[in-house]
Amino acid sequence: MPEFERRTTVPAVQSSKVRDGDAPLAMITAYDAPSARTADAAGADMLLVGDSVAMVVLGYDDTLQVTIDDMAHHVAAVRRANPTALIVGDLPWLSYHVSTEDTVRNAATLIRAGAGAVKLEGGRKRLVAIQALLDAEIPVMGHVGLTPQSVNSLGGYKVQGRDVDGAETILGDAMALEEAGCFAIVLECVPEVLGRTITEAVSVPTIGIGAGVDCDGQVLVWHDVLGMNGDRKPPKFVRRYADLESEAVAALSSFVTDVHNGDFPAKSEVYSMPAAAAEVVELYGAAAEAVRTTS
Ligand code: KIV
Repeated sequence: MPEFERRTTVPAVQSSKVRDGDAPLAMITAYDAPSARTADAAGADMLLVGDSVAMVVLGYDDTLQVTIDDMAHHVAAVRRANPTALIVGDLPWLSYHVSTEDTVRNAATLIRAGAGAVKLEGGRKRLVAIQALLDAEIPVMGHVGLTPQSVNSLGGYKVQGRDVDGAETILGDAMALEEAGCFAIVLECVPEVLGRTITEAVSVPTIGIGAGVDCDGQVLVWHDVLGMNGDRKPPKFVRRYADLESEAVAALSSFVTDVHNGDFPAKSEVYSMPAAAAEVVELYGAAAEAVRTTS
């Protein structure tokens, strides 16, 4: 079956609205083959190779540290898992801010690495970039509300649109993204009522993260869902479905203890050879031992 028939497509996502009777879309971030494989096996509609990779995988304090080459590396790993979910590649900071030519080239790098669409942050000020991408046949997912690449301008990771002016700006930005041709819009960290209002106002699906239950879909970070955050305190909107970090430490501790105690590997975990050959090898060992003790 051709790839585009097996994989969730951009038009399928674009036409998905809860008010039309569609089930909410589930998007999970993925950064490598294991996270892509598990999220895809779980039935996710979309895998977002998010620039959150900077924080949850690479250990940086913010998302500003990753480059287009870093993102392409992770998109390619996700693609090699051969998921049926649509792969969305996040355009990192400064990959779509310099010129339209640079923007299209950078987005093309993610498409060639295996993404079926790209995501970028920001509202009306991104319209020129979005038009250039669409002209190059690159589908674009928008992202408004809390846009982590603006952490320095926003003064931190804070809920956005909590007053009327702020809410109006985000609503206007979301409507402009729809008008420009974005096939879906991420709404991050906004009051529930604003998530609902934007979802009602636009015809493309809204994918919420801390934007309430009325969005047309939800996205969470793989490591947050599975409890692999280390010391990083997840935001209020995260629901943790497992504590894999504790399970991983427990499993790895058992291995370390078994090694320290000489209990690993067991007989069933080693390779054998024919007895006659083994005897010869043991003679080599005995000879080497004799040389070592006499010199
Ligand atoms: O990079 C990311 O993981 C994201 C999601 C939080 C939407 O942009």
